[in-house]
Amino acid sequence: MNVHAPALADAHLPDEQTSVFAKDAVEDLSQHPKRLSPKYFYDAAGSELFEAITRLPEYYPTRTELGILKECGSAIAAIIPAGAALVEFGAGATTKVRRLLEKSALGAYVPVDISGDFIRGQADALRRDFPRLAVYPVAADFTAPFELPAAIAALPKVGFFPGSTIGNFEPHEACRFLRSARDILGDGALMIVGVDLEKDERVLYHAYNDAAGVTARFNLNVLVRINRELGGNFDLSAFTHRAIYNRERHRIEMHLIAKKSQTVRLLGTSFSFRAGETIHTENSYKYSVERFAALARGAGWKVKETWTDPARMFSVHAMVAVD
Ligand code: AVJ
Repeated sequence: MNVHAPALADAHLPDEQTSVFAKDAVEDLSQHPKRLSPKYFYDAAGSELFEAITRLPEYYPTRTELGILKECGSAIAAIIPAGAALVEFGAGATTKVRRLLEKSALGAYVPVDISGDFIRGQADALRRDFPRLAVYPVAADFTAPFELPAAIAALPKVGFFPGSTIGNFEPHEACRFLRSARDILGDGALMIVGVDLEKDERVLYHAYNDAAGVTARFNLNVLVRINRELGGNFDLSAFTHRAIYNRERHRIEMHLIAKKSQTVRLLGTSFSFRAGETIHTENSYKYSVERFAALARGAGWKVKETWTDPARMFSVHAMVAVD
Protein backbone atom coordinates (compact mmCIF):
# COMPACT_ATOMS: atom_id res chain seq x y z
CA MET A 1 0.00 0.00 0.00
CA ASN A 2 1.30 3.41 -0.93
CA VAL A 3 1.00 5.78 2.03
CA HIS A 4 2.54 9.21 1.93
CA ALA A 5 2.95 11.44 4.95
CA PRO A 6 0.26 14.07 4.39
CA ALA A 7 1.44 17.66 4.00
CA LEU A 8 -1.47 19.36 5.73
CA ALA A 9 -1.26 22.82 7.23
CA ASP A 10 -3.46 21.78 10.14
CA ALA A 11 -1.59 18.64 11.14
CA HIS A 12 -0.28 19.33 14.61
CA LEU A 13 1.40 16.02 15.36
CA PRO A 14 5.10 15.57 14.73
CA ASP A 15 5.52 14.23 11.16
CA GLU A 16 6.63 10.87 12.42
CA GLN A 17 3.49 10.35 14.51
CA THR A 18 1.25 11.57 11.70
CA SER A 19 2.71 9.03 9.31
CA VAL A 20 2.24 6.24 11.85
CA PHE A 21 -1.42 7.34 12.21
CA ALA A 22 -1.70 7.41 8.39
CA LYS A 23 -0.26 3.93 8.02
CA ASP A 24 -2.42 2.49 10.82
CA ALA A 25 -5.62 4.13 9.53
CA VAL A 26 -5.16 2.90 5.95
CA GLU A 27 -4.19 -0.60 7.11
CA ASP A 28 -6.99 -0.89 9.65
CA LEU A 29 -9.68 0.40 7.29
CA SER A 30 -8.51 -2.20 4.75
CA GLN A 31 -9.32 -5.05 7.17
CA HIS A 32 -12.52 -7.08 7.19
CA PRO A 33 -14.20 -6.07 9.42
CA LYS A 34 -12.84 -2.52 9.28
CA ARG A 35 -11.34 -1.19 12.47
CA LEU A 36 -9.46 1.78 13.98
CA SER A 37 -7.28 1.79 17.10
CA PRO A 38 -8.76 3.46 20.22
CA LYS A 39 -5.41 5.16 20.85
CA TYR A 40 -6.35 7.62 18.08
CA PHE A 41 -9.37 8.91 20.04
CA TYR A 42 -7.16 11.16 22.11
CA ASP A 43 -6.31 14.33 20.22
CA ALA A 44 -7.09 17.58 22.11
CA ALA A 45 -10.83 17.41 21.32
CA GLY A 46 -10.98 13.68 22.06
CA SER A 47 -9.21 14.10 25.39
CA GLU A 48 -11.73 16.78 26.36
CA LEU A 49 -14.61 14.54 25.29
CA PHE A 50 -13.15 11.74 27.40
CA GLU A 51 -12.94 14.12 30.39
CA ALA A 52 -16.64 14.93 29.77
CA ILE A 53 -17.40 11.17 29.70
CA THR A 54 -15.78 10.75 33.12
CA ARG A 55 -18.29 13.24 34.53
CA LEU A 56 -21.39 11.53 33.02
CA PRO A 57 -23.86 10.04 35.50
CA GLU A 58 -23.81 6.71 33.60
CA TYR A 59 -20.00 6.44 33.37
CA TYR A 60 -19.10 4.95 36.76
CA PRO A 61 -15.43 3.81 36.28
CA THR A 62 -13.51 7.04 36.89
CA ARG A 63 -15.39 8.21 39.96
CA THR A 64 -15.51 4.68 41.38
CA GLU A 65 -11.75 4.22 41.00
CA LEU A 66 -11.10 7.66 42.54
CA GLY A 67 -13.36 6.63 45.43
CA ILE A 68 -11.32 3.45 45.97
CA LEU A 69 -8.04 5.40 45.83
CA LYS A 70 -9.47 7.78 48.43
CA GLU A 71 -11.09 5.18 50.73
CA CYS A 72 -8.21 2.73 50.54
CA GLY A 73 -5.45 5.28 49.95
CA SER A 74 -3.80 4.68 53.31
CA ALA A 75 -3.79 0.90 52.81
CA ILE A 76 -2.38 1.31 49.30
CA ALA A 77 0.23 3.82 50.49
CA ALA A 78 1.22 1.46 53.31
CA ILE A 79 2.53 -1.16 50.89
CA ILE A 80 4.62 1.39 48.93
CA PRO A 81 8.22 1.45 50.25
CA ALA A 82 9.36 4.85 51.55
CA GLY A 83 11.33 6.78 48.94
CA ALA A 84 10.07 4.60 46.06
CA ALA A 85 9.84 5.83 42.47
CA LEU A 86 6.29 5.63 41.11
CA VAL A 87 6.23 4.99 37.34
CA GLU A 88 2.84 5.81 35.80
CA PHE A 89 2.14 4.19 32.42
CA GLY A 90 0.19 6.50 30.11
CA ALA A 91 -0.10 9.27 32.67
CA GLY A 92 -2.66 11.76 31.41
CA ALA A 93 -4.09 14.19 33.90
CA THR A 94 -2.50 13.59 37.31
CA THR A 95 -5.72 13.48 39.36
CA LYS A 96 -5.32 9.85 40.41
CA VAL A 97 -1.65 9.90 41.32
CA ARG A 98 -2.29 12.91 43.54
CA ARG A 99 -4.42 10.64 45.75
CA LEU A 100 -1.34 8.46 46.29
CA LEU A 101 1.15 11.32 46.57
CA GLU A 102 -0.87 12.88 49.37
CA LYS A 103 -0.61 9.70 51.44
CA SER A 104 2.77 8.12 50.69
CA ALA A 105 6.38 9.28 51.06
CA LEU A 106 7.42 8.77 47.44
CA GLY A 107 10.95 9.69 46.40
CA ALA A 108 10.20 10.24 42.72
CA TYR A 109 7.39 10.26 40.20
CA VAL A 110 7.97 9.19 36.59
CA PRO A 111 4.96 9.94 34.36
CA VAL A 112 5.30 8.18 30.99
CA ASP A 113 3.18 9.51 28.14
CA ILE A 114 3.35 9.73 24.37
CA SER A 115 2.50 13.44 24.50
CA GLY A 116 5.75 15.08 25.66
CA ASP A 117 4.40 18.63 25.91
CA PHE A 118 1.36 17.58 27.90
CA ILE A 119 3.36 15.47 30.32
CA ARG A 120 5.95 18.20 30.91
CA GLY A 121 3.14 20.67 31.72
CA GLN A 122 1.62 18.22 34.20
CA ALA A 123 5.07 17.66 35.74
CA ASP A 124 5.51 21.41 36.35
CA ALA A 125 2.15 21.60 38.12
CA LEU A 126 3.05 18.63 40.33
CA ARG A 127 6.42 20.13 41.26
CA ARG A 128 4.63 23.27 42.44
CA ASP A 129 2.21 21.27 44.61
CA PHE A 130 4.76 18.71 45.88
CA PRO A 131 8.03 20.67 46.16
CA ARG A 132 9.97 17.78 47.71
CA LEU A 133 9.01 15.31 44.99
CA ALA A 134 11.47 14.67 42.14
CA VAL A 135 9.47 14.45 38.89
CA TYR A 136 11.07 12.90 35.80
CA PRO A 137 8.64 12.91 32.85
CA VAL A 138 9.36 10.42 30.05
CA ALA A 139 7.90 11.03 26.57
CA ALA A 140 7.41 7.50 25.24
CA ASP A 141 4.82 5.04 23.97
CA PHE A 142 4.36 3.00 27.14
CA THR A 143 3.28 -0.09 25.20
CA ALA A 144 6.83 -0.42 23.79
CA PRO A 145 10.02 -0.92 25.84
CA PHE A 146 11.54 2.35 27.13
CA GLU A 147 14.37 3.36 29.48
CA LEU A 148 13.72 4.57 33.01
CA PRO A 149 15.57 7.77 34.00
CA ALA A 150 19.03 6.98 35.44
CA ALA A 151 18.24 9.14 38.49
CA ILE A 152 15.80 6.53 39.85
CA ALA A 153 18.09 3.52 39.30
CA ALA A 154 18.72 2.97 43.03
CA LEU A 155 15.10 3.53 44.21
CA PRO A 156 12.48 0.82 44.80
CA LYS A 157 10.09 0.81 41.81
CA VAL A 158 6.28 0.87 41.82
CA GLY A 159 4.32 0.81 38.57
CA PHE A 160 0.95 2.57 38.40
CA PHE A 161 -1.60 1.83 35.65
CA PRO A 162 -5.01 3.20 36.69
CA GLY A 163 -8.17 3.90 34.68
CA SER A 164 -8.75 0.37 33.38
CA THR A 165 -6.73 1.33 30.33
CA ILE A 166 -5.65 -2.31 30.44
CA GLY A 167 -9.18 -3.12 29.24
CA ASN A 168 -8.33 -1.64 25.83
CA PHE A 169 -5.81 -4.44 25.21
CA GLU A 170 -6.69 -7.88 23.92
CA PRO A 171 -6.00 -10.31 26.81
CA HIS A 172 -2.77 -11.56 25.14
CA GLU A 173 -1.65 -7.94 24.63
CA ALA A 174 -2.48 -7.13 28.26
CA CYS A 175 -0.30 -10.07 29.27
CA ARG A 176 2.54 -8.87 27.03
CA PHE A 177 2.22 -5.32 28.42
CA LEU A 178 2.34 -6.53 32.05
CA ARG A 179 5.39 -8.68 31.22
CA SER A 180 7.14 -5.71 29.63
CA ALA A 181 6.26 -3.48 32.63
CA ARG A 182 7.78 -6.17 34.85
CA ASP A 183 10.99 -6.14 32.78
CA ILE A 184 11.18 -2.33 32.82
CA LEU A 185 10.52 -2.05 36.58
CA GLY A 186 12.79 -4.97 37.49
CA ASP A 187 12.95 -7.63 40.22
CA GLY A 188 11.31 -6.73 43.49
CA ALA A 189 9.01 -4.16 41.88
CA LEU A 190 5.40 -3.56 42.84
CA MET A 191 2.60 -2.57 40.49
CA ILE A 192 -0.81 -1.01 41.15
CA VAL A 193 -3.42 -1.55 38.43
CA GLY A 194 -7.03 -0.35 38.10
CA VAL A 195 -9.35 -2.86 36.41
CA ASP A 196 -13.04 -2.51 35.56
CA LEU A 197 -15.17 -5.46 36.70
CA GLU A 198 -17.86 -7.52 34.99
CA LYS A 199 -21.30 -6.48 36.17
CA ASP A 200 -24.97 -6.12 35.22
CA GLU A 201 -25.05 -5.74 31.45
CA ARG A 202 -27.49 -2.82 31.59
CA VAL A 203 -25.07 -0.83 33.73
CA LEU A 204 -22.30 -1.54 31.22
CA TYR A 205 -24.54 -0.72 28.26
CA HIS A 206 -25.55 2.70 29.59
CA ALA A 207 -21.99 3.60 30.58
CA TYR A 208 -21.11 3.45 26.86
CA ASN A 209 -24.47 4.67 25.48
CA ASP A 210 -25.03 7.78 27.59
CA ALA A 211 -28.24 9.73 27.21
CA ALA A 212 -26.43 12.99 26.42
CA GLY A 213 -24.57 11.42 23.48
CA VAL A 214 -21.08 12.36 24.67
CA THR A 215 -19.70 8.87 24.03
CA ALA A 216 -21.14 9.02 20.51
CA ARG A 217 -19.25 12.28 19.87
CA PHE A 218 -16.10 10.76 21.37
CA ASN A 219 -16.39 7.78 19.02
CA LEU A 220 -17.13 9.93 15.93
CA ASN A 221 -14.22 12.23 16.80
CA VAL A 222 -11.79 9.68 15.37
CA LEU A 223 -13.35 10.33 11.94
CA VAL A 224 -13.12 14.10 12.52
CA ARG A 225 -9.46 13.57 13.27
CA ILE A 226 -8.88 11.47 10.13
CA ASN A 227 -10.54 14.20 8.07
CA ARG A 228 -8.38 16.93 9.56
CA GLU A 229 -5.03 15.22 9.98
CA LEU A 230 -5.09 12.74 7.12
CA GLY A 231 -7.20 14.69 4.63
CA GLY A 232 -10.09 12.21 4.76
CA ASN A 233 -13.61 13.00 3.58
CA PHE A 234 -15.77 11.08 6.06
CA ASP A 235 -19.34 12.42 6.15
CA LEU A 236 -20.01 12.47 9.90
CA SER A 237 -23.77 12.46 9.47
CA ALA A 238 -23.49 9.15 7.58
CA PHE A 239 -22.10 7.22 10.57
CA THR A 240 -23.65 6.39 13.90
CA HIS A 241 -22.27 5.28 17.27
CA ARG A 242 -23.00 1.81 18.63
CA ALA A 243 -21.72 0.17 21.82
CA ILE A 244 -22.69 -3.39 22.75
CA TYR A 245 -21.65 -5.82 25.47
CA ASN A 246 -20.14 -9.01 24.04
CA ARG A 247 -20.82 -11.46 26.86
CA GLU A 248 -18.77 -14.39 25.52
CA ARG A 249 -15.69 -12.21 25.23
CA HIS A 250 -16.33 -10.13 28.37
CA ARG A 251 -16.02 -6.84 26.54
CA ILE A 252 -17.82 -3.68 25.52
CA GLU A 253 -17.34 -3.12 21.79
CA MET A 254 -17.67 0.31 20.22
CA HIS A 255 -18.47 0.58 16.55
CA LEU A 256 -19.19 3.30 14.00
CA ILE A 257 -21.96 2.08 11.70
CA ALA A 258 -22.35 3.32 8.11
CA LYS A 259 -25.96 4.52 7.77
CA LYS A 260 -25.88 4.02 3.98
CA SER A 261 -23.54 2.63 1.34
CA GLN A 262 -20.80 5.11 0.58
CA THR A 263 -17.19 5.56 -0.47
CA VAL A 264 -14.67 7.49 1.61
CA ARG A 265 -11.27 8.64 0.39
CA LEU A 266 -8.17 9.31 2.39
CA LEU A 267 -4.52 9.51 1.39
CA GLY A 268 -5.27 8.44 -2.16
CA THR A 269 -7.09 5.26 -1.13
CA SER A 270 -10.84 4.61 -1.46
CA PHE A 271 -12.78 2.67 1.15
CA SER A 272 -16.28 1.53 0.30
CA PHE A 273 -18.90 0.83 2.92
CA ARG A 274 -22.09 -1.20 2.66
CA ALA A 275 -25.12 0.17 4.53
CA GLY A 276 -24.82 -1.15 8.09
CA GLU A 277 -21.11 -1.96 7.77
CA THR A 278 -19.12 -1.22 10.92
CA ILE A 279 -15.77 0.18 11.88
CA HIS A 280 -14.78 -1.49 15.16
CA THR A 281 -13.16 1.33 17.14
CA GLU A 282 -12.68 -0.01 20.66
CA ASN A 283 -12.84 -2.98 23.00
CA SER A 284 -13.13 -2.38 26.70
CA TYR A 285 -12.52 -5.72 28.44
CA LYS A 286 -14.12 -6.37 31.82
CA TYR A 287 -12.53 -8.81 34.27
CA SER A 288 -13.45 -10.76 37.36
CA VAL A 289 -10.95 -10.39 40.21
CA GLU A 290 -9.91 -14.02 39.60
CA ARG A 291 -9.47 -13.71 35.83
CA PHE A 292 -7.34 -10.60 36.26
CA ALA A 293 -5.15 -12.29 38.89
CA ALA A 294 -4.63 -15.27 36.54
CA LEU A 295 -3.69 -12.96 33.66
CA ALA A 296 -1.20 -11.10 35.87
CA ARG A 297 0.28 -14.37 37.16
CA GLY A 298 1.02 -15.42 33.59
CA ALA A 299 2.94 -12.15 33.14
CA GLY A 300 5.20 -12.52 36.19
CA TRP A 301 3.10 -10.71 38.82
CA LYS A 302 1.41 -12.06 41.95
CA VAL A 303 -1.60 -10.11 43.19
CA LYS A 304 -1.05 -9.32 46.89
CA GLU A 305 -4.12 -7.23 47.62
CA THR A 306 -7.30 -6.22 45.82
CA TRP A 307 -9.49 -3.29 46.80
CA THR A 308 -12.99 -2.72 45.42
CA ASP A 309 -15.90 -0.36 46.05
CA PRO A 310 -18.82 -1.77 48.10
CA ALA A 311 -20.85 -2.48 44.93
CA ARG A 312 -17.84 -4.28 43.34
CA MET A 313 -17.96 -2.16 40.21
CA PHE A 314 -14.21 -1.55 39.93
CA SER A 315 -11.02 -3.03 41.36
CA VAL A 316 -7.53 -1.82 42.26
CA HIS A 317 -4.84 -4.51 42.53
CA ALA A 318 -1.41 -4.36 44.15
CA MET A 319 0.93 -7.01 42.79
CA VAL A 320 4.57 -7.99 43.24
CA ALA A 321 7.03 -9.15 40.60
CA VAL A 322 7.66 -12.92 40.78
CA ASP A 323 9.42 -15.33 38.44
C1 AVJ B 1 -10.07 4.96 28.95
C2 AVJ B 1 -10.14 2.80 27.99
C3 AVJ B 1 -10.79 3.11 30.26
O1 AVJ B 1 -12.85 1.72 28.14
O2 AVJ B 1 -14.07 2.84 29.53
C4 AVJ B 1 -14.87 5.46 27.64
C5 AVJ B 1 -12.47 4.59 27.21
N1 AVJ B 1 -14.50 4.52 25.75
N2 AVJ B 1 -16.02 5.46 26.94
C6 AVJ B 1 -13.13 2.76 28.74
C7 AVJ B 1 -13.91 4.86 26.88
C8 AVJ B 1 -15.79 4.91 25.78
C9 AVJ B 1 -12.26 4.00 28.56
N3 AVJ B 1 -10.82 3.72 28.92
